[in-house]
Amino acid sequence: MSYHTNLKSEATLPTIYRHRSIRKFTEEALTDEQREAIWEAGRAASSSSFMQSTQIIRVTDVEKRAALCEVAANQKYVRTAAEFWVFCIDYTKHKQAFPEAQLDWTEGLILGAVDAGIMAQNCLLAAESMGLGGVYIGSLRNNVARAAEILALPPLTFPLFGMCIGHPAQDPMYRPRLPLETLVSENRYKALDAAKLSAYDEQLTAYYKERSGLDLNWSKAVTNNFSQPLRPQILPFLHQQGLAKR
Ligand SMILES: Cc1cc2nc3c(=O)[nH]c(=O)nc-3n(C[C@H](O)[C@H](O)[C@H](O)COP(=O)(O)O)c2cc1C
Repeated sequence: MSYHTNLKSEATLPTIYRHRSIRKFTEEALTDEQREAIWEAGRAASSSSFMQSTQIIRVTDVEKRAALCEVAANQKYVRTAAEFWVFCIDYTKHKQAFPEAQLDWTEGLILGAVDAGIMAQNCLLAAESMGLGGVYIGSLRNNVARAAEILALPPLTFPLFGMCIGHPAQDPMYRPRLPLETLVSENRYKALDAAKLSAYDEQLTAYYKERSGLDLNWSKAVTNNFSQPLRPQILPFLHQQGLAKR
């Protein structure tokens, strides 16, 4: 492991608490050293059963960037951010190490998705600690087969999400989270208190109104998100890739 202790990096807690997704970037590139330091932070992450089942694909090809931008509902920053990385579940390495490996269990999919998420968050925090900003791009899964085609992904891989990273050109408002007491409970599950939910909805209504003039709150966002089939092409694509078949 090569350590990048010479880079300026803010302490962990202030970095974490200051997080906001960044969707507007300056044209300034990352240095090789910054990029490597961020990836090393990802590489240092915990890994389920130490299976290290993630591959990060850095997309530098302009045409591929544009094609992935189109897949991701034309979110402009996919094209314009200094860096765009795709975090993939990758079990090809495991197949190589052990050709008879049973890689098609659903547990393997969970393991791979958890590992990639942890690795990606280490990367994002490392970037944020250096004054950079970024945003995850889940909308790559709008057309997951096309994303995989653009990236020439083989069987036993899956493009989970992208990540834009660059120098921030905006300073967005903090997006209020569900209150801590609704996220943590002791010894047993605790259902969401209706009064807490409506107080949170009120808080988010004010947030969305101020930020973008939208008439939105958390319950409405949940309704929008879950009132239609949720990317139904994911399961057949997973099966096509030889994943989550049983
Ligand atoms: C896995 C994942 C996928 C996401 N996909 C997108 C995306 O496609 N486009 C986007 O603008 N934001 C995306 N986001 C960012 C979330 O919208 C954002 O984190 C959330 O609204 C909270 O806002 P904040 O990060 O500014 O605090 C994604 C976040 C995660 C964790």
